[in-house]
Amino acid sequence: MKVAIASDHGGINIREEIKSLMNELGIEFEDFGCECDTSVDYPDYALPVAEKVANGEFDRGILVCGTGIGMSIAANKVKGIRCALVHDVFSAKVTRQHNDSNILAMGERVIGPGLAREIAKAWLTSEFEAGRHANRIGKISDYEEKNR
Ligand code: RB5
Repeated sequence: MKVAIASDHGGINIREEIKSLMNELGIEFEDFGCECDTSVDYPDYALPVAEKVANGEFDRGILVCGTGIGMSIAANKVKGIRCALVHDVFSAKVTRQHNDSNILAMGERVIGPGLAREIAKAWLTSEFEAGRHANRIGKISDYEEKNR
């Protein structure tokens, strides 16, 4: 599995925490910034990561900003992206099992690095259950095909 990770200035610490987790888990990743001391715009980081996941260059993405909200809104504009904004371990697991989420968004002003690490670990190690859930995701994909 190859993971693309990025944050804005509001998510740098959690981004570093998750990079260290992925190193421990032996998960290949690439960091797409930001290299920022000052304020940057989250769509400039969310959209390239989402495109790399949508086009198959990366299997999954992780995005961090202050709330996770801006990153998730932007990423979900890209066709084929199912970005889940998650701040608890239960949802991290279930959004992989049921929604086959391909991007995880978190907010560094909402949760601390310890919880973020547990969330990312659950999300990175849980698998899609398919079955009835695949049918539901198919309805979202069909809508995307017809309306974009
Ligand atoms: C940046 O101040 C902040 O708006 C951003 O990190 C994020 O929370 C947006 O949703």
